[in-house]
Amino acid sequence: MPQLSLSWLGLGQVAAFPWLLLLLVGASWLLARFLAWTYAFYDNCRRLQYFPQPPKQKWFWGHQVLIIATEEGLKNLTQMSATYPQGFRIWLGPIFPFLVLCHPDIIRSITNASAAIAPKDDLSIRFLKPWLGEGILLSGSGKWSRHRRMLTPAFHFNILKPYIKIFNRSVNIMHDKWQHLASEGSSRLDMFEHISLMTLDSLQKCIFSFDSHCQERPSEYIATILELSALVEKRNQHILQHMDFLYYLSHDGRRFHRACRLVHDFTDAVIQEQRRTLPTQGIDDFLKDKTLDFIDVLLLSKDEDGKVLSDEDVRAEADTFMFAGHDTTASGLSWVLYNLARHPEYQEHCRQEDRDPKEIEWYDLAQLPFLTMCVKESLRLHPPVPYTSRHCIWDIVLPDGRVIPKDAHSLICIINIIGIHHNPTVLPFPSTPDPLKERSPLAFIPFSVGPRNCIRQAFAMAKMKVVLALTLLRFRFLLDHTEPRRKPELIMRAEGGLWLRVEPLNAGLQ
Ligand code: HEM
Repeated sequence: MPQLSLSWLGLGQVAAFPWLLLLLVGASWLLARFLAWTYAFYDNCRRLQYFPQPPKQKWFWGHQVLIIATEEGLKNLTQMSATYPQGFRIWLGPIFPFLVLCHPDIIRSITNASAAIAPKDDLSIRFLKPWLGEGILLSGSGKWSRHRRMLTPAFHFNILKPYIKIFNRSVNIMHDKWQHLASEGSSRLDMFEHISLMTLDSLQKCIFSFDSHCQERPSEYIATILELSALVEKRNQHILQHMDFLYYLSHDGRRFHRACRLVHDFTDAVIQEQRRTLPTQGIDDFLKDKTLDFIDVLLLSKDEDGKVLSDEDVRAEADTFMFAGHDTTASGLSWVLYNLARHPEYQEHCRQEDRDPKEIEWYDLAQLPFLTMCVKESLRLHPPVPYTSRHCIWDIVLPDGRVIPKDAHSLICIINIIGIHHNPTVLPFPSTPDPLKERSPLAFIPFSVGPRNCIRQAFAMAKMKVVLALTLLRFRFLLDHTEPRRKPELIMRAEGGLWLRVEPLNAGLQ
């Protein structure tokens, strides 16, 4: 092999060995990468300097405590929004910057951008991917826009109406349990636990037409969904679990893997069964007498070219609805009951609105204006999704001239929903509950805004109204002063339950 002489570099005979040359090239490549990274980091810091930064707690950890999804973390985030009402810059560790945006004018610039310009960031979705695949919650812009176009018209109000009966049935089961518990003398209930099961029960019926009786006896599938949600939450909070290769070697990682397989097998089996029974012709006659579940809707959806979704896509969308629909609605409902327990006068006002105590029907939903206001006010005070995140692949110019830099090194933009809702420059006295408060639509975004807002918000609102309308006619809710351990203010999930005292009302008994 001809030997290369690099004596002109002053390296003499040493460089003549090919492996030394290789080492030199490798080291130069690493140095070049390091310099490029350092320059990008410096450039980033320079461009972000126009956004104020709260003092760091610790040099190494940065502001990590501020963005942890705990009660404490959310309180910090809310307070910061009052101090920096337009938005601020924080760091996760020493090198990962976040822009937390707290004002509707600023947020509009990102949420109005197309999903291709301001896509979801990888960090927030990575841990859910093995479970939810490429469903619309997580997919990138190409697949997302095709699926969103296919699914939006597929869920119009006519499809929604028959689900009202399912909501009624699921809530009746929960109430029977409460009546039974009350007759045995226990009136203190963990609302979140009961409502969460009821929500999962009705979702499973709406999505799969499957009754697991999970409110009455343990269901493996439902327990697995709850386990998956808890594992993802736990992984988010433990930085050592962030690396895939470490995670999947750990006990939690193996549980997560097993749980994903179980949930996927369940969904696949339903898809196969429904594909088998769906006729290839005479579809209109078939649909006349059938309540379409979500799987039917997904199997029947076609894009502009007449193409249907693959089995894998149907599974991803169904699993996504199950995930995106249960915790959010359960949390939203629990908070409404908690807020109504704190304000008995509003609770009584809701009860006075006229409806049949036996069953809520579609047209009843329009007759509940005060209850609707209470639901919205509770979603404002305690949004079930407190923030979402994006990253920008084009420069985004804000109304005040500042720029969110494109593809900035690892920069994540937090759309601080809870911060907007509690921003005193947007709404005077934002933390005072008042269902009659005038809210600008841009200052009230529990379902997010822009192209990637919640696709099922009409479904979620209808469900919450049915559950509350029936529940308030049958039960009274009081704060549980015997629970000194905790006083929830913002979230409850990770912190264990929301205890209220429940009193059956004779007037509404079934
Ligand atoms: C009170 C109840 C609910 C709240 C507060 C809520 C809130 C949200 C928010 C804030 C987003 C945007 C997430 C992001 O930008 O990353 C979202 C997206 C989504 N939600 Fe909901 N949601 C609720 C109920 C539901 C239900 C019941 C379902 C389905 C059964 C659902 C399905 C989805 C899906 C599929 C997306 C992704 C939309 C997309 O990226 O195109 N949500 N939701």
